[in-house]
Amino acid sequence: MGRVSIKNVSRIFKKEDKSSTEALKNVSFDVGDGEFVCLLGPSGCGKTTLLRIIAGLETLTSGDITLNGVSITGPDPKRGMVFQQYSLFPWRTVIDNVTFGLEMQGIDKAESRKHAEKYIELVGLKQFKNSYPYELSGGMQQRAAIARALANEPEVLLMDEPFGALDAQTRNILQDELLRIWEQRHVTFIFVTHSVDEAVVLSDRIVVMTARPGRIKEIVEVDLPRPRSRTSPEVNRLRDRVLKLLEEERFHR
Ligand SMILES: Nc1ncnc2c1ncn2[C@@H]1O[C@H](COP(=O)(O)OP(=O)(O)OP(=O)(O)O)[C@@H](O)[C@H]1O
Ligand SMILES: [Mg+2]
Repeated sequence: MGRVSIKNVSRIFKKEDKSSTEALKNVSFDVGDGEFVCLLGPSGCGKTTLLRIIAGLETLTSGDITLNGVSITGPDPKRGMVFQQYSLFPWRTVIDNVTFGLEMQGIDKAESRKHAEKYIELVGLKQFKNSYPYELSGGMQQRAAIARALANEPEVLLMDEPFGALDAQTRNILQDELLRIWEQRHVTFIFVTHSVDEAVVLSDRIVVMTARPGRIKEIVEVDLPRPRSRTSPEVNRLRDRVLKLLEEERFHR
């Protein structure tokens, strides 16, 4: 189960010279168990900060975030994270990257390899399990990063623009694959993107944030059956609506 509740979260970064940046201000929203939520907002509005707080890698200044009713105080394999790029250990093969978290949990080598192989197969990298990251394309590296996160069997998967560095075609393929995985595995997704198209294709709801300090501007329901066409009138209408919300933020700084 992976129910996330974000209540009145604020984050102020203070510098030694006493100046400060208010990254997030009174952010509140809930993400249901097994829900797919995308976070969208202008650059610098605190999306990465919020994800890192949920991951337990960053602290909050005030407010509270709970997973299944329990406050988050630090990292936990129940909350996996996938970054934009370069998150694999370059000195480890694909399988050794995927087993890393399992080894950290003290699972024995043979068992963790067996477990890792299952997830490597799920993301379509079976033939490359003994390859090093430099031998893989960008899309394949992100597949490996997804397998690594999934191998810990997280309740929540936090993804920070995981397809941001990929070309449009690879990106579309990985979006479809991610949806297939999401349908097979019961995982809650919180997915940061700059792409309105990506958010509309993937999510149950889109959380649109304001310019910094990041607040919730609007939460848009995407009540359309999957798989979604990328060009249907309903999708176009939603895309227009979200684009308008983002455009407003360009001028409200
Ligand atoms: N460790 C830190 N120390 C000081 N300021 C920080 C730190 N991390 C983030 N910030 C500031 O907080 C604000 C939000 O940053 P964040 O990276 O969360 O934005 P973002 O929405 O992810 O932006 P982008 O879309 O460009 O990735 C920025 O003004 C940034 O400078
Ligand atoms: Mg960011």
